[in-house]
Amino acid sequence: MRNFHFKILFLVLFTAIILTGCTTTKQDKTTLTENSLSSSSIQVSSTTDVLTYSLTQVSEHNTEVDCWQVINGKVYNISKYIPNHPGGLNSVLKGCGKDATKMFDLQHKPKTKEMLKNYYLGNLE
Ligand code: HEM
Repeated sequence: MRNFHFKILFLVLFTAIILTGCTTTKQDKTTLTENSLSSSSIQVSSTTDVLTYSLTQVSEHNTEVDCWQVINGKVYNISKYIPNHPGGLNSVLKGCGKDATKMFDLQHKPKTKEMLKNYYLGNLE
């Protein structure tokens, strides 16, 4: 009779250990899936984080001290560069608040285009 009690006790303990093990494994898998999901959503949001501006917004920045220009579909705030512009003030000011792609491409060497990245704000809508 005593032996029988031991067997029952052993079975109960064994079942309890197996069940606890399964539950823990299941939790780990759930946590792993949640982590993978959340890190992948961070990546998605970072790739779509490009600011866009309409031509109307650009047109509001049309002065010597606040000058935005659109060049090849990208919006630049070149206000800080204006006083140093080698082509003088008059020429560069003509493009403020506008799509200045044609004016820019006509007047500059291809290497000058590399300077634009320093003034990049976002893309044209
Ligand atoms: C409406 C926009 C612009 C116009 C109409 C314009 C016009 C001009 C003109 C007429 C020259 C003199 C070219 C010569 O004498 O050979 C010049 C030179 C220059 N501009 Fe502009 N500019 C504009 C915007 C910009 C911007 C946004 C940058 C830089 C962020 C820039 C950088 C330069 C540089 C580095 C030169 C001398 C080197 C070169 O000819 O490529 N300009 N620009």
